[in-house]
Amino acid sequence: MPMILTPEQQALLNGEKGETMAKVVKSLVMYGETFGAEKMVPVTGGCGHLVTSFGLSVMKPVYALMDQLIQSGVLSGQKFSADPRPLDPNVPKNLLQDLFFHVMYSKQASYEKQLETLGLLSDDSFTCACYLDQVGNKPAKGDVLSWAESSAVVYANSVLGARCNRNSGILELFGSIAGFVPYFGLLTEEGRKATWVVEIKTTKKPEAQILGSAIGMKVMEDVPYVKGLTAFIGSELNDDATAYLKDFGAATASNGAVGLYHIAGLTPEAVEQADALIAPDANTYVIDDAELERVRASYPVIWKDPNAEPKLCFVGCPHLSLKQLHDWTDALGAALEKAGRKTVAIPTVFTSPTAVQAEFRQTPDYQRLTGMGVILSYICPLMYMNNPLCGKMPVVTNSNKLRTYTSARYHTDAEIIELLAKGGN
Ligand code: F3S
Repeated sequence: MPMILTPEQQALLNGEKGETMAKVVKSLVMYGETFGAEKMVPVTGGCGHLVTSFGLSVMKPVYALMDQLIQSGVLSGQKFSADPRPLDPNVPKNLLQDLFFHVMYSKQASYEKQLETLGLLSDDSFTCACYLDQVGNKPAKGDVLSWAESSAVVYANSVLGARCNRNSGILELFGSIAGFVPYFGLLTEEGRKATWVVEIKTTKKPEAQILGSAIGMKVMEDVPYVKGLTAFIGSELNDDATAYLKDFGAATASNGAVGLYHIAGLTPEAVEQADALIAPDANTYVIDDAELERVRASYPVIWKDPNAEPKLCFVGCPHLSLKQLHDWTDALGAALEKAGRKTVAIPTVFTSPTAVQAEFRQTPDYQRLTGMGVILSYICPLMYMNNPLCGKMPVVTNSNKLRTYTSARYHTDAEIIELLAKGGN
């Protein structure tokens, strides 16, 4: 069924503001019609967010498209943040890898110039955790967004109560340019109802990244309503709970395709509507200790030598919050002291938004953490690993997203601390 457009939207489609803007709107209309949308709704969040932050040399059509938008004056109607940069000189690499990176991402500088012209929020706004207070792109409850980064979409929908579909890259930019997006899926009341009830029956606090993975793999793109989690993470959206939900959500979104979850007694819509959020014939998934064990044991280890000593460790996918940086510093400090070591046993990179790092630098913990040999970076570990040279390295991580998309091996937070303090595999 064709979408019903307002006279203003129709005029844009008819070319009132030029051929390029007409194509932008046509793409949004085709996208909406594919998913049965009947109308467009205004984007109301303060800022957009772009998933394509990397100047991969092979992405020629993207650069041509950006040039066309810029030359036609079709810029983003709202400022936007972008996913993390793929390169950081501080992250360890050998000469060959360094050379390879510069060829692979040879368009980085010119692409960032294009993003700046199109409406990039600031030079510091390259992070997937754009919703953290320090970054300046935190939507309000009820805001309609045009984002694509899966970890950010699921956080904005679930923890902040904003409304956003799991859009694709470039289409999310088109929504920010036009100022409207097709109304379907997670923007609608119906689409936000839970079709799964997840009952947490574990004896201890579930590891956020494994719980998210279990739920993602079970419900895929459906909406889960999680009961019993507040017994472990409390019923207040404080720094600890939001950090937990950030990592949990990224795992649901990458191990499955979850764009929205509700936590009974905690997330905004679940607090307001409680069980009324659950669709009539919702399925049930019970998670106990054994189920988490089963899920964890199902992760394949795809290193060439499964017994290799790790060469690199990444923590911070999605990017770490300020509270997480402090918590990791404390935990690592205590473990190193106990093990009688001064520095980490494996080269280690913690990733976090530049703006968060700036605040962290003002605290004594910055010297403590870097004194332990940990490198602070703003990169995306996935972008670092997604090439044949780094892909072969035995890398460990506590990120289930990184595990899913690369050859990195997953460990719980406690296991990572142990590895960093004692080495081995
Ligand atoms: Fe963020 Fe890159 Fe991980 S975008 S969630 S650090 S894969």
